[in-house]
Amino acid sequence: MAIVSAKEMLVKASQEKYAVGAFNITSVVQMGAIIEGAVAKNAPVIIQTSVTPARFLKPEVVVAVFKALANEVSIPVCLHLDHCTDVDFCKICADLGYTNIMFDGSHLDFEENIRRTREVSDYCHAIGGITVEGELGTVSGVEDQIKVASDDAQLCDPEKSFEFVERSGIDLFGPAIGTAHGIYQTENPVIDFKRLGEIYQMLNTPLVKTPLVVHGGTGLSEPTVRNLIQNGGSKYNVSTNLKYILMDSTHEYMTGHPKEYDPGKLDKHVKMETRKRIEYWIDLLGSEGKAL
Ligand code: 13P
Repeated sequence: MAIVSAKEMLVKASQEKYAVGAFNITSVVQMGAIIEGAVAKNAPVIIQTSVTPARFLKPEVVVAVFKALANEVSIPVCLHLDHCTDVDFCKICADLGYTNIMFDGSHLDFEENIRRTREVSDYCHAIGGITVEGELGTVSGVEDQIKVASDDAQLCDPEKSFEFVERSGIDLFGPAIGTAHGIYQTENPVIDFKRLGEIYQMLNTPLVKTPLVVHGGTGLSEPTVRNLIQNGGSKYNVSTNLKYILMDSTHEYMTGHPKEYDPGKLDKHVKMETRKRIEYWIDLLGSEGKAL
């Protein structure tokens, strides 16, 4: 059994300056591919579901498949609920066996964000072994039910970070620093590395207490990814890239095999392409060989 808490995994990553890939899935084929890729690279890994796929597949199904796959391997893995705006659904997923829960109150005012995030933190901590992620500021783009226009995106105020983390009781913190969900509208998005570094210093010196999360991982250049990690990002979220791999590899296979009616072969192709991509991310994030 390799299921660990996200915080345990990410404190180590922060200290050693690498990041753990946190990969959003919509299918169990992707889940298998992620775990296989991480095993091949001996890397810790986080599987995440946004709320829509969690509801569609049913959280009890996601947890059951996750546990069955995790039980077969010895690398550290955890299951994260991503960007949930519904306190009750956070609690349901925590009860069912998700190991990490993100309450996304970034659309709320500061006090209400703290109040609801705290409710989720207290609930998850009382169960034991479940860690909680919170967000301050807003990440532009589209992630499941969260849509933020780039003009409305607000970067996280470093001064407020400390208060937010203390009062909300969270274990992991996702500050908005200029990254965006989905496909970047510009070739050179403006990322505020300095702000990320300041927040990291404020929360994590002298000891790492609250690892930082980078949202909007798809589409950034490799030097940008490394810079984000150097400035304190230790959970690196990738969703859109895996959706493209799933859809493109499906189209590619169907075009190449128009008369073949064997879904197992299609699944195998999608799984292989997804796994290759996971291995690419693990190399870039520096988490290869870190599954200790
Ligand atoms: P991308 O869709 O840009 O990869 O962002 C993923 C993410 O941040 C999920 O929380």
